[in-house]
Amino acid sequence: MVIFRTLLLWLQAMQTQAVFQERISAFPAEATAILADIARQEGMLTAEQASQLKSIFNLSTADLMVKLLPVAAAISVAPISEFYVGVIAEGISGDLYFGANIEFLHQPLKVTLHAEQCAILNAWHKGEAKLVRLVVNEAPCGHCRQFINELNSADSIEIIIQHASEGVVRQYSLDDLLPKSFGPADLGLTDALMSPEQFDLTLPEEFAGDDLVKTAFEAAVNCHAPVCKSPAGVALKLKSGKIVAGRYASNAAFNPGATALEAAMVNWRLALLETQQDDIVEAVMVEQPTKVSQYALAESQLKDYGVELRYIAV
Ligand code: THU
Ligand code: ZN
Repeated sequence: MVIFRTLLLWLQAMQTQAVFQERISAFPAEATAILADIARQEGMLTAEQASQLKSIFNLSTADLMVKLLPVAAAISVAPISEFYVGVIAEGISGDLYFGANIEFLHQPLKVTLHAEQCAILNAWHKGEAKLVRLVVNEAPCGHCRQFINELNSADSIEIIIQHASEGVVRQYSLDDLLPKSFGPADLGLTDALMSPEQFDLTLPEEFAGDDLVKTAFEAAVNCHAPVCKSPAGVALKLKSGKIVAGRYASNAAFNPGATALEAAMVNWRLALLETQQDDIVEAVMVEQPTKVSQYALAESQLKDYGVELRYIAV
């Protein structure tokens, strides 16, 4: 079963890469050369690369982002719906972050990662402080509108929707899309997702030389869990030696949030843009399971990949 899954994942990654290459090759050669860096940079373009593209195409940032949506949608893994959603998030730094929906065969539909979550998690894990704009190739669903409402930029973020079926592009505020909303302030929280808060955790000394554990620990320290106060981080070691991290991204509305493993899965898919076959070979979770724990869920999800989860409670 695990061999079958591994083969399937390998085929999926190959297909993602082929579609990505085809989409970037549709642009003029000088743009294609820059766009190829999206794969090397695990799903992002720097502000400088974005400016170069803006001058090649003579477009505003927003129009460039709309133009690049097919490249974002190429990252999608949607073997169940075959509905390929692409999102690009612009950070206050000017960097652009790509995201797409990620579906998991043989798992409950509930574990699906939406393109909006993927782009936002991508930006947050790369250290972006705040988002200014989100461009989507389909109207965001209610769960994604809530996820966006959990951000430190919920009041100011500009959302541009390319209504593909109607052939029009429109700009909205989050209040247009989610009026009379519930958000972090309703629970009296001042920190929102992407706020620079940190958990004060201590890693036992015995792990000081273990890079995988240290990465999971850093992810837990930098995670967002203001209600349950049960910080968690995951680190996945890939066959190539590369390590990807995932920080718990909890929501005030609880359910649309992403677990640390889900966040790590996003970063794994983004890492696969560069290297076709890069299986997960080791996994670590560092957690302070004060009120909740995501260990059992993550352990069972990783079993699907034939990977055992090492767990360190701090
Ligand atoms: N999807 C998104 O990625 N974002 C949305 O807000 C709408 C739905 C994805 C989830 C699933 O993979 C597919 O589209 C069909 O619902
Ligand atoms: Zn959604």
